Order: sequence, then C-alpha cells, then structure tokens
Amino acid sequence: MKNQQTSDTPDIEKHKWEERYQEETAPPWDTKLPAPELEQYFAALDKKPGNVLEVGCGTGTNAIWLAKQGCKVTATEIAPTALDKAKASVGGEKIDFHLLDICQSSPVSDSSQDFVFDRGVYHVIPKGERGLFIERIASALKPGGLWLSLVGSKDENRENPENGPPQLSAADLINLIEPFFEIIELNRSHFILPDGAKHLAWKALYRKRS
Ligand SMILES: C[S@@+](CC[C@H](N)C(=O)[O-])C[C@H]1O[C@@H](n2cnc3c(N)ncnc32)[C@H](O)[C@@H]1O
Repeated sequence: MKNQQTSDTPDIEKHKWEERYQEETAPPWDTKLPAPELEQYFAALDKKPGNVLEVGCGTGTNAIWLAKQGCKVTATEIAPTALDKAKASVGGEKIDFHLLDICQSSPVSDSSQDFVFDRGVYHVIPKGERGLFIERIASALKPGGLWLSLVGSKDENRENPENGPPQLSAADLINLIEPFFEIIELNRSHFILPDGAKHLAWKALYRKRS
C-alpha cells in the first residue's frame, strides 16, 4: 500500500496548486512584486536575454515584468486559476502562456531559450521528478543559456518545516543539476513574503553546458 501511495503522490501534489489559487486569500508566495533577484540580475546585464521561459509563473508578476524588459516571454503554469489570473493581469505585453506540467512537456522548441527563470518552483517539484524538470530546462536553453532559480534553503532553522517554502540543501541542488549545468553562482537570498515573513533562500545561477 505504501508503494501505491508514493506513486500517486505527484498527482495529489499537483492538484493542491489549483486549490491554493482558488482560495479567497492570495497564497503566501504571491507578492505581486517582481523578484528583487531578477531585477538585480537584469540591472547588471549589458545585453538583455531575447527568449525567456518562466516556469511555474503563478499569477504572472515576473513574466509580465520580463516582457516589459523587452524579452520574448513564454510562461508556464500547472494551475489553471493561476494562469487565468496571470492572463488577466497582462496589459499591452505579449506573453505566450501555456498550461502544462513542465515535467511532462515543454512549451518551447529545443535549444531556443536564452534564459529560464523559476521562483520557488524547482523546490516544489517532487523529488522523483526533479531530474525531468532539469532535463526540460536544459533542453529548452541554447548552449550557454542561463537559468536563474530561487529555492528555499535548508540552512534556515524552523520549528515546523511546513511553515514556509520547501527547504533544499546545496547538495540537493548541485547533485542533480551539475551534470547539465555549470554552477555560476550559488548565493544566499531571502523570500520576503507579503505578511512580513522572511525565509532563507538560494539564489542560483546555472549555465547550460555546451
Ligand atoms: C511556490 S509557487 C511560486 C509561483 C511563482 N513562481 C511566484 O513566485 O509567485 C510554485 C508554482 O509552481 C507551479 N507548479 C508546480 N508544479 C509545477 C509543474 N510541474 N509544472 C508547472 N508549474 C508547476 C505551481 O502551480 C505554483 O504556481
């Protein structure tokens, strides 16, 4: 029985995202502000990336911000309500939205993207599917393309691990990712949530191996 439950877990996990976005109050991660790490990263660039994929875009704040920077944005979500909210928030920007499970399919052709962004998505992917997630991102990127990923950090001591974003160690990231990507940066950052909570995070920048 235990095995059966384990194989069912991903679907149960995936269903919960839709429920979270259907609740009256916005989910705690939905800051409605572009991620400061993304803004800082772009501020330091000489040339902005052309084709950008955002995975797990939630209600679209970062995808819209990226489109405003002049990027050609493709954004994916697994939760229909989140995607509807994202589409409703778009002004004049052109964003190619896709409702899909990134572990199962890709919205872009292989080697077409300059940059991939995920805020709080890699860390919610069930352990058994992280390899698929990484392979999708690697396939989407051009050789040398970059992936900026914001992930909850295990170095934050919490009484209740459920109280905040999932927590991964540096080894959790590197072991699976390094075969496909060079680790360009692995720094400390924070998720600062609208309720004032501050959670330790990894700000990771990876470059697809050529
Ligand atoms: C913690 S939320 C972060 C949302 C958004 N990036 C943000 O910063 O507001 C994780 C998001 O990943 C989405 N997600 C989870 N698993 C996914 C998958 N397999 N494919 C695509 N999106 C997924 C969820 O629906 C949810 O919107």
